[in-house]
Amino acid sequence: MATEMALVKPISKFSTSSPIFSNSRYGKFTTVRMSSTSQSTTKAAVKGGKKAAKTAIKETLLTPRFYTTDFDEMEALFNTEINKNLNQSEFEALLQEFKTDYNQTHFVRNKEFKEAADKIDGPLRQIFVEFLERSCTAEFSGFLLYKELGRRLKKTNPVVAEIFSLMSRDEARHAGFLNKGLSDFNLALDLGFLTKARKYTFFKPKFIFYATYLSEKIGYWRYITIYRHLKENPEYQCYPIFKYFENWCQDENRHGDFFSALLKAQPQFLNDWKAKLWSRFFCLSVYVTMYLNDCQRTAFYEGIGLDTKEFDMHVIIETNRTTARIFPAVLDVENPEFKRRLDKMVEINEQLLAVGETSDIPLVKNLKRIPLIAALASELLATYLMPPIESGSVDFAEFEPQLVY
Ligand SMILES: [Fe+2]
Ligand SMILES: [Fe+2]
Repeated sequence: MATEMALVKPISKFSTSSPIFSNSRYGKFTTVRMSSTSQSTTKAAVKGGKKAAKTAIKETLLTPRFYTTDFDEMEALFNTEINKNLNQSEFEALLQEFKTDYNQTHFVRNKEFKEAADKIDGPLRQIFVEFLERSCTAEFSGFLLYKELGRRLKKTNPVVAEIFSLMSRDEARHAGFLNKGLSDFNLALDLGFLTKARKYTFFKPKFIFYATYLSEKIGYWRYITIYRHLKENPEYQCYPIFKYFENWCQDENRHGDFFSALLKAQPQFLNDWKAKLWSRFFCLSVYVTMYLNDCQRTAFYEGIGLDTKEFDMHVIIETNRTTARIFPAVLDVENPEFKRRLDKMVEINEQLLAVGETSDIPLVKNLKRIPLIAALASELLATYLMPPIESGSVDFAEFEPQLVY
């Protein structure tokens, strides 16, 4: 999994943009823990320093989430006795692809990393760290979910189970590589602590399929777009991690293709009116979450020479085109009205953030938020209700994993 996904719903606690790492400057090495509460202060272990530093991290609805699901239902879905749609030879072929492990030797660091990190200064440094931290959390979230699915499906469907385990291998590699990146900034995410301390969001299996499919494909398009942009504009190549995105994103693409095959094996998730409504809902959630998140972090995208909104729209359009090959309905993201509404949501979100930053008492803040949340909800609903694009085909295409460029 490569990107963050959170359900966007009317909310009461859009946080202010948080100082994720308050002590990120050079000398000390700090392990940062993220708590599951909204405004807690957690004790962070300091390596190489005598005092314990305290780092406050706020978690919001837009923070990357950890997911759990109904594993018994998953087992039933992948039981070949029960589900005759499971095309085992297709899964065998995918398994061989994962076993090949194309990126086994790809994630090797060199001394350029630390040197580059030391040159990143000022506000960009903090935003860079935040990028690494959020990406690491999102990748790690995929690792946990896939690892558990690999474990739980072993008896029912060993082939599918092994694919999940191999995907968790990939995600662990991605998360580890990003965490190593944090070490260039003298920080590290405490992933063991995160595993235990964070709240897990429960999704029924069908929602896991929609959400993770989108998450993998949007991750692919984000990584490849950044990679291509920096290849064309090397003057913005300020940190070597982006050079790894070309092969890295092929992992995400393969993960997405596997979910495509899983969905195809569960036609009940693709072929009725409910499937259409849910498909549109998940597209909306994923796209809006990304757009709002990224628009809060324009400094990062501008720092690497991208226009945040243009970048996001490109990623959304490409992801939507890919998704239309399997989902029964998608949003009409190429209709200018879609972007207009997204931009309106950004404005409302900014107003919400501004309310959070005032010195008003909580009651007053909440009262001020009510009309804004109502406005955001109404934008979301209007976007959801825009005429959709009928798409997908259960028996649509061959599932040979392939490079997409
Ligand atoms: Fe990943
Ligand atoms: Fe992935």
